[in-house]
Amino acid sequence: MIRYEHKNLKPWISDEVLNLLQPQVSSAADLLASRKGPGGDFLGWYDPSKAVSSDEIKAIKEASKRIQDQSELLVTVGIGGSYLGARAALEALPWDEASENGVDIDFAGHHMSSRDMEMLLDNLDDYEVSINIISKSGTTTEPAIAFRLLKAYMEERYGKEEAKSRIYATTDAKKGALRKLATEEGYTTFVIPDDIGGRFSVLSPVGLLPIAAAGYDIDALLAGAQDGFLRYGASTDVLQNDCLRYAASRVALYRQGKAIEILSTFEPAFHYFVEWWKQLNGESEGKNGTGLFPAGCEFSTDLHSMGQWIQEGQRNAFETFLIEEKPSASVVVPDTGDDLDGLKYLAGRELSEINLEAWKGVSLAHYDGAVPNSSLIVDTMNTRTLGELIHFFERATGISCYMQGVNPFNQPGVEAYKANMFALLGKPGFEAQAKILRERL
Ligand code: PA5
Repeated sequence: MIRYEHKNLKPWISDEVLNLLQPQVSSAADLLASRKGPGGDFLGWYDPSKAVSSDEIKAIKEASKRIQDQSELLVTVGIGGSYLGARAALEALPWDEASENGVDIDFAGHHMSSRDMEMLLDNLDDYEVSINIISKSGTTTEPAIAFRLLKAYMEERYGKEEAKSRIYATTDAKKGALRKLATEEGYTTFVIPDDIGGRFSVLSPVGLLPIAAAGYDIDALLAGAQDGFLRYGASTDVLQNDCLRYAASRVALYRQGKAIEILSTFEPAFHYFVEWWKQLNGESEGKNGTGLFPAGCEFSTDLHSMGQWIQEGQRNAFETFLIEEKPSASVVVPDTGDDLDGLKYLAGRELSEINLEAWKGVSLAHYDGAVPNSSLIVDTMNTRTLGELIHFFERATGISCYMQGVNPFNQPGVEAYKANMFALLGKPGFEAQAKILRERL
């Protein structure tokens, strides 16, 4: 269960301010629930119990068992929403929660680094390998290139027939080059529903297959999301519903001139959760000349770099802390019998407890430096809590976007770079654009 502490927002966001926003919050919540807002055809994720059928869950579990029987490593190929959710979950969850037969997961296709690809291909021989290519459109260049390379590797190593049994494609039911290829090759396939967009797809086959293959309990993950659906859907009262309070507070802070929201953690394992959150908000909200810039910080590391800016730089940011109160790992500061390092006063104390004191100290210091901040606190990160957290942020994003009059579910701006890249690479059909671009280079 998530706890939301917001007293360090008080001077900026009073209950009166939130009450004034109540009509906008209620209308945004209605638009989400009724699917009548902009992009309402992409709300398949909203009720987690309906987002993925029991037959699909069964098929995902069977496929993940086959991956575990055949392989030690699953390479997941995808970009944006087609990989960030799974990566966020796999890094945030404690490793000892995974079953022993879980495979390692690696990620490819989210950049075009030849150094990284060469290293991946060089290392694959050390493992038994399966591949999961994930692309909703089935036409995205970065994962398509990576998959072309990995498919060739698999066919050379295992032969065409065995390679087919080790390749899983997650894509649209009918459209796109990947669907055509998967059908022709006879790969096991999973469908990304029409009504779920990439960055809202972690609790569909997109995220569930790699998470299950790694040995995590996807039923618990989905149950956690359902907990969130029920909890944050129970009331539209902005003062009672933490998800609505968080969403409305970020909109109010934006309207007060804050341009940046920093999601700060004290846990490196949450690095990719923050990356997932950055995508969720950046791609959903950053449109029509509006939207908060979603940034991330990892403390204590970034206290010795970005911490200075946050404390004393331009006053245009606010901060949301993501805190795990009782991590499953236990490390105690040893008593060395002397006090040469001046740390005797910490001997016998849990490292996690010291980390929590750091969070409390930082949140007050940043408050004193005029950085409004609030904290989302989980007890211990596990599959169930993670499911709730995913739902919390997805719902909050939808609410904030509708309050700002923005369609949360499209990403027209992502197309601009693609068209330029295609033109410069010589893709047929882009000749005129290529000519104009070359003159500008
Ligand atoms: O959220 C989104 O829709 C995007 O980030 C996509 O996930 C990303 O562009 C990858 O697209 P695709 O799955 O079609 O390859």
